[in-house]
Amino acid sequence: MKKNATVITIADTKGGSTKSTTAVNIAAFIAHSGLKTLLLDFDLEQPTACSYFPLQKEAPYGVYEFLIMHETDLDKLISATTTQNLDVMSSNSVRQEIVSHLNASADGIIRLKSCLKLLKSEYDVIVIDTVGTIDPTVNMAVLASDVVLSPLDPSMPGVREYLRGTISNLFRSLIPFTDYGIELPPVYTFFNRVEENNDCHRIKELFNQQINALPPLPFKITVLDKDIKKKNSYKVAASLGIAAFQHYTEPTNKVAHPYKITKAQAQSIKDDIYYLCQHLLPRYQPQFDAFMKTEIAH
Ligand SMILES: Nc1ncnc2c1ncn2[C@@H]1O[C@H](COP(=O)(O)OP(=O)(O)OP(=O)(O)O)[C@@H](O)[C@H]1O
Ligand SMILES: [Mg+2]
Repeated sequence: MKKNATVITIADTKGGSTKSTTAVNIAAFIAHSGLKTLLLDFDLEQPTACSYFPLQKEAPYGVYEFLIMHETDLDKLISATTTQNLDVMSSNSVRQEIVSHLNASADGIIRLKSCLKLLKSEYDVIVIDTVGTIDPTVNMAVLASDVVLSPLDPSMPGVREYLRGTISNLFRSLIPFTDYGIELPPVYTFFNRVEENNDCHRIKELFNQQINALPPLPFKITVLDKDIKKKNSYKVAASLGIAAFQHYTEPTNKVAHPYKITKAQAQSIKDDIYYLCQHLLPRYQPQFDAFMKTEIAH
């Protein structure tokens, strides 16, 4: 039976706000829950997401051939990771090259919305990672998505950039598309890498006040209640190319600085990612609940 994927875009115009880390862990969680998942790497400057997990089969093509050359052979476009149900499409172009092609085309930044039809029929969920700046590729990904997730840096520059760059410059610039029947996706935002200090609390209070004072927008912004704490396991998992909700013990004790993610650390990250996925994809709650009942895996 043909599928009809839900498209989740991870977007925030601030560099380093944890977009790629969020994208890979969410995609892995959804895949581990038994849903066919595609991670699409739209960060054409730093292809972090598509190079995170080891590959079982590497496709020769990627985003460039998909968007610009209209390639439709999925075998050539999509790489399979070693994680069951998790595929990736590589970001294999320079940003300017794709942007100039799109600027010179009549369908411009709505092209992804139409190209995605091919992939939506093959997957349950498509997760798109984007570049952390104002860029037409981010606008394109937002317009093509059903829901947007924005991780927020709990700092004054992080909050300012979110209000100025992400909300005013990115999301608001898409409002004219609603005149052409394109609905803007709901946005979920949450604080990530949170530390227990007064500064974080003050910044969150200020952010909530400012969000509530915004004039009405044609899309809903929800600030999620739960913060994701600063946890070293995210970095360890990235070095190992595994999801941060998997535990790991170095097979040899002969290395000077062994990597380790304990079961308890992995479980607390699994709880965090479950929380995000529940909000983004309520229709898959039963699959997520079933995965939560399974043992923390290696
Ligand atoms: N909850 C967390 N606790 C601690 N470190 C984290 C957490 N989440 C992500 N990180 C680390 O923060 C750094 C930046 O994350 P990441 O690369 O995902 O950000 P990004 O928004 O994709 O950056 P860019 O805009 O450059 O693409 C990485 O080193 C990552 O391992
Ligand atoms: Mg990134």
